[in-house]
Amino acid sequence: MIDKINGLLGEVEHMNAANNEELEALRIKYLGKKGAINALMADFRNVPPENKKEIGVLLNQLKDKAQNRIKELKDALESHDDVAAGIDLTRTAYPVKLGTRHPLSIVRNEIIDIFGRMGFCVAEGPEVEDDWHVFGSMNFAEDHPARDMQDTFFIEAHPDIILRTHTSSVEARVMEHAQPPIRIVSPGRVYRNEAISYRAHCFFHQVEGLYVDRNVSFTDLKQLLLQFAKEMFGDGTKIRLRPSYFPFTEPSAEMDISCNICGGKGCPFCKGTGWVEILGCGMTDPNVLENCGIDSKEYTGYAFGMGVERIANLKYQVNDLRLFSENDVRFLKEFEAAN
Ligand code: DAH
Repeated sequence: MIDKINGLLGEVEHMNAANNEELEALRIKYLGKKGAINALMADFRNVPPENKKEIGVLLNQLKDKAQNRIKELKDALESHDDVAAGIDLTRTAYPVKLGTRHPLSIVRNEIIDIFGRMGFCVAEGPEVEDDWHVFGSMNFAEDHPARDMQDTFFIEAHPDIILRTHTSSVEARVMEHAQPPIRIVSPGRVYRNEAISYRAHCFFHQVEGLYVDRNVSFTDLKQLLLQFAKEMFGDGTKIRLRPSYFPFTEPSAEMDISCNICGGKGCPFCKGTGWVEILGCGMTDPNVLENCGIDSKEYTGYAFGMGVERIANLKYQVNDLRLFSENDVRFLKEFEAAN
């Protein structure tokens, strides 16, 4: 009996398998119900009582060794040889569920692309700003109502530090360090102290544009904005400019586009007028150029600013601003195709 056990121990130690079939054959041969080790176990009852202890220990060692060696071989097959282990490397991968870009990012990128094709590059500035860049340099009078606590988020201990209320502040950031020609668009988040509703939020997004060079004219501005409107809302889109007022531009205008929902005939969306407002614009006030170290006798400029949410509302007919910041995936998924 002892010789048989030792013989099997030697065999078991040197077991080898090239694939899963061979391994299974070995398992059956040694550890199967009718295998060699079980046969010895059955013989065990014929062992004289005085030898039972010694042989019992040996038999258990044999069984452990066999089990461990089979496990070792199995691990080796799995880690070294995927095909032998039954893994099909030619199988198609599981479909990966990708996220989608946020609708505001889609619209912002499209705005940047359109102006990028017309020679504008992107400039960014800080959201936490100082009074000078948001208001002072932009020609807001000391007592202008827009500086009022109602609209602007101040930091109590530092009234000079504010959350920017518009991206026009980036105009000043760029002009103080660069000389014309300057041609930039500035996308970014802005903050206003407003009660949150379907049509107002305490933060939203804008894209500002600025062009400063010799002989820049209002005609250039109008042509640029017409081209933008056509690319953004379709070739048939018309624009109209209405006189307006902004401290940083003179003259100033607001631009409407022909309602892209009814095509200008008049509908509830455009309140029957056939027109919807999309941006503010104008010729950069000479005071602004001088405030930022640019000679206003040599250079002129135009600027424009638009709300990204506004453009997205028109393009995708989203009527509740809050949807953009709630991150309800059912809403966000609607923009899968626009990605
Ligand atoms: N900053 C303005 C706002 O937040 C938008 C604007 C209007 C920007 C006219 C301009 C501009 O550059 O010329 O309402």
